[in-house]
Amino acid sequence: MRGENIMDDKETKETKNFLYGFYALRFYLPFSGLARSWQRFWKKRLNKKSQLLQQINLPKISWKKCTPVRKIKIWETETKNGNVRISELAMLNALAAHCEDGANIFEIGTFDGRTTLNMTFSSSSNCRIYTLDLMPEMETRFNLAAGERHMVEVKVPAERLMKHLEAGEQAVQKIRRLFGDSAKFDFSPFKNSCSLVFVDGSHAYDYVKSDTRNAMKIVKPGGVIVWHDYGIWSGVTKALEEIEAEEKIGLRNIRGTSLVFWKKV
Ligand SMILES: C[S@@+](CC[C@H](N)C(=O)[O-])C[C@H]1O[C@@H](n2cnc3c(N)ncnc32)[C@H](O)[C@@H]1O
Repeated sequence: MRGENIMDDKETKETKNFLYGFYALRFYLPFSGLARSWQRFWKKRLNKKSQLLQQINLPKISWKKCTPVRKIKIWETETKNGNVRISELAMLNALAAHCEDGANIFEIGTFDGRTTLNMTFSSSSNCRIYTLDLMPEMETRFNLAAGERHMVEVKVPAERLMKHLEAGEQAVQKIRRLFGDSAKFDFSPFKNSCSLVFVDGSHAYDYVKSDTRNAMKIVKPGGVIVWHDYGIWSGVTKALEEIEAEEKIGLRNIRGTSLVFWKKV
């Protein structure tokens, strides 16, 4: 009887994870995307400038063109200031689920580990998830963006991840935490080895440029880079638009999100 209850519990949880994934991409994404376009429209009309929402110029792409995965699960649904939106999490999970078994996935910027965990649970069992984070006492090569220190100076770094580690979950063993300033970190051991790179560290222009250069080195041909906070943090928006204007590599904003998508050929 007890065994049956445990199975029921597991199935109920899995169904919930799927329902959240469905809701995130089919409802939350289009409506929240519309809301943001509406905000941008009025900002432009009223000629309002604000630190945290810019006009955007990169061409758009539908999430369906970025991944063939349609059934997507989501874990850790509660969002904290500093996390990605639930629609963005679903998108990242779809990309992680599409990585081949044994693939390397690399995240710049761990925060509480919500996306790390989601990519871990979504990907095949032999994948490795690397997540790099700056610790508060570490010196940085460039200045961080104004207003982002609170994401570095958290009470418990990678708090959600620690919770799952303490619970002794097997899947979490796929994660390797790395510590350092992304502009000083030695990425060379990862050269051309990653199937998915998620750039979500500092939002300062210099960091986005430097993290992008490194992400492009470590992603393998056929692999994908995703950036967060395009159109939200001015440093991210400026750096990515500048790269696209200068290099015409085909950066695309995933419609309805602040994610930018690029596939290495
Ligand atoms: C926006 S949060 C990341 C959110 C996380 N990826 C998620 O999806 O929930 C930014 C993270 O980048 C880290 N960070 C900021 N500057 C960094 C740097 N120079 N090098 C490495 N990590 C950095 C911060 O410590 C913080 O954990």
